[in-house]
Amino acid sequence: MRIFSGSAHPRLAEGIGRHLGIELGRIVLGHFPDSETKVQVLDDVRGREAFVVQSLCRPVNESLMELLIIVDALRRASASSICAVIPYFAYARQDRKHAGRVPITAKLVANLITTSGVNRVLTMDLHASQIQGFFDIPVDHLYAAPVHIEYLMKRGLEKPVILAPDIGGVKMAGAFAKRLGGDLAILQKERMNDHEVRCGHVIGEIEGRDVVIVDDVISTASTASEATKVVRANGAKRIIVLATHGILAESAFARLSEAAPDEIVLTDTIPMGNPPKNLPLTVLSVAGLLGDAVIRIHRNQSVSSLFL
Ligand code: R5P
Repeated sequence: MRIFSGSAHPRLAEGIGRHLGIELGRIVLGHFPDSETKVQVLDDVRGREAFVVQSLCRPVNESLMELLIIVDALRRASASSICAVIPYFAYARQDRKHAGRVPITAKLVANLITTSGVNRVLTMDLHASQIQGFFDIPVDHLYAAPVHIEYLMKRGLEKPVILAPDIGGVKMAGAFAKRLGGDLAILQKERMNDHEVRCGHVIGEIEGRDVVIVDDVISTASTASEATKVVRANGAKRIIVLATHGILAESAFARLSEAAPDEIVLTDTIPMGNPPKNLPLTVLSVAGLLGDAVIRIHRNQSVSSLFL
């Protein structure tokens, strides 16, 4: 087998390769003078299984197009099968028609990836797990939770409460509560626009408790920062904001600094920009988890033991 990295997040791909003791395949990535994406796979892949690691992170469309082109190159070079390893699957929040005349872009992206020649997708913490059904090829959907839980176990949380910042997050928060032996709480949240949310009541008892606000993604950090403020106003003792994907768009760092949770825990599915030095940020690596899944897929073994 060979593992190739797109240009979105080579550090994570190297981490996966290191975990497996495999050197990444050689590939040239760049642009033609007119800005078209240019790809050349340098290693022979004929008859081999190929894995392409590409998070769909900023610039999202560039990362997506590059993935499609790499897959096309591998298919034409006679790879026996191609697995797209997509730690962060962008466009996942556009998964339904919430208003008239809007697209379902998550489905379009799934179609594009399948059409390019991918045989299998390995991804992590999709915004909605039903997105797996947008593909007619196998999708292995991992959760970063084992990495998160292992970390939280060491934090000495007392009587933790796991808070879902919206109804959509209840399943994820519930799984954390079960694993950590904590209680579940739910926040009432209303999205005002793409940049702002308004948080209302907390359903559940959080006064004097260590609260972990669990989400799949932090984008503008408007959810995380507003949730932190409400949780603090309700008397929480310690506040940990935790998510898998740290997009950290726009003024996310400023919002988090202002809201000042005691800790922010993310994973490295997306490369981290330049967080302010005083931000209490911990980034956990999911390279090992992805690497374990890659090797199991290669050996035709079950990957479900890696799930929560
Ligand atoms: C919403 O359904 C998601 O799970 C996140 O809560 C949301 O997308 C985070 O976005 P932001 O950081 O911009 O509030």
